[in-house]
Amino acid sequence: MTLLWPLIKKFLFLFPPEWAHAIGASFLKLLGFANQGRGPAWVFRRHYSLKTDLSLGGKPLGHPVGLAAGFDKNAQLVLGARALGFSFVEVGTVTPLPQRGNPSPRLFRLPEAEALINRLGFNNQGASVVAARLERLRALHSIHFPIGVNIGKNKEVTEANAASDYARATEIIAPFADYLVVNLSSPNTPGLTDLQTSDAFVAILKAVRHTRDQLAKKSPNVCQDLLVKLSPDLSDEQAAQAAQQALANGFTGLILSNTSRSRDLPGCAAANAAALAESGGLSGPPLRALALARLRQLRALLGPKPLLISCGGLAAKEDARERMLAGASLLQVYTALVYRGPGLVRQLTR
Ligand SMILES: Cc1cc2nc3c(=O)[nH]c(=O)nc-3n(C[C@H](O)[C@H](O)[C@H](O)COP(=O)(O)O)c2cc1C
Repeated sequence: MTLLWPLIKKFLFLFPPEWAHAIGASFLKLLGFANQGRGPAWVFRRHYSLKTDLSLGGKPLGHPVGLAAGFDKNAQLVLGARALGFSFVEVGTVTPLPQRGNPSPRLFRLPEAEALINRLGFNNQGASVVAARLERLRALHSIHFPIGVNIGKNKEVTEANAASDYARATEIIAPFADYLVVNLSSPNTPGLTDLQTSDAFVAILKAVRHTRDQLAKKSPNVCQDLLVKLSPDLSDEQAAQAAQQALANGFTGLILSNTSRSRDLPGCAAANAAALAESGGLSGPPLRALALARLRQLRALLGPKPLLISCGGLAAKEDARERMLAGASLLQVYTALVYRGPGLVRQLTR
C-alpha cells in the first residue's frame, strides 16, 4: 500500500482537493469497517519506536501521534484513522447547529511547499448528528483509544452569545468524547480568532467547564480532559495569557497550533503565487518553525505538567523527534497525511 502511494497520490491529485478528500475518505471508511477498530490494520502495523506513557481522557495511547481536527469533521472516519495507526483521533470542528461552510472552491493545494490553504468555514453536520454517530460507534465497538471532539460556534452567533454556543456544543457532545477541544483559532469564521484575546475568552472557558462539570455529576462517562486550540498568529504575550487563563480555569492543556493567516513563512516563496493568494488558513511545513517556537515558549513558561499537543508542519520522523525533545506531550498531523499518505504514522514514529 505505502509503496503504491506515489501512484495513488498522482491519481488523487487529478481531482480538486475536496473531491480527492472524499475519495480518500471512502477508502478509509472501508478500511475502518474491515478493521473494526481493533488497532492498526496489519499493513500499517509496526513496532513504534516513538512511545508515550501518557493517556488522554483516561485511555492509554502507546505512541504520541494523533489525527488533527478537520480531517474527520463528522465522526465518519474514526475507525479508518485508527486502522492507519493513529493513537488518538480528533473529530470536528463540530458546531451546535449544522452548517454548510463557505462556498467552493475553498481548499487549495500548494504542492511545492507540501502545504494547503483552506477556508472551509466549519462545514459540519452539527453536534447532535455527530453525538449520535459517536454513541453508535461506542455501542457497536469496544473503543480502547481516545476520541476527542473539537467544538466551535456557529457562524452567525455573536461574541455576546459565544459562551452559550460553546456550552450548548459541550452539553450535546461531551458525553461521547474522551476529550474536548475549544477551538477559537480557526481563521475562517469571522471574528473567531479575536475571541482568544477578548473578555469573551474566559467566559467561554468557564461556560464549557461548568457545563462539563454539571454533566459529570450525572454520568461518569463525560469527557475528562478539556483543551484549548490556539492560533499560531497570536503574539507571545497573547499566547502566554491565553494559556495561563486556560490552565487557571481547569483545562488540561493546549493544542499548538491551528492554521495561519500569514503567508510570510518558510517555504511559501516556492509556492504557486495564485494559490498562495487565496484567503484562509495555511497548513503544512511552512508552519513548522512557528509551531516549534510556540511549543518551546509555552513549555518554558508553564513547566512540565500541562498537556501540550504540538500540531503544525509535522511531516517526518525528524520533526516528530524535535517536537518531543522540545517538550511536546503529544503530536497531531493533518496536511502530511495528504502528501505523505497512509504510511505517515509509521514514518513519524520510526
Ligand atoms: C482542510 C483542513 C481543515 C481543517 N479543519 C479544522 C477544523 O475544523 N478545526 C480545527 O481545529 N482545525 C482544523 N484544521 C487545522 C488542523 O487541525 C491543524 O491544526 C493544522 O492543519 C496544522 O497541522 P498540519 O500542518 O499537520 O496540517 C484544518 C486543516 C486543514 C488542512
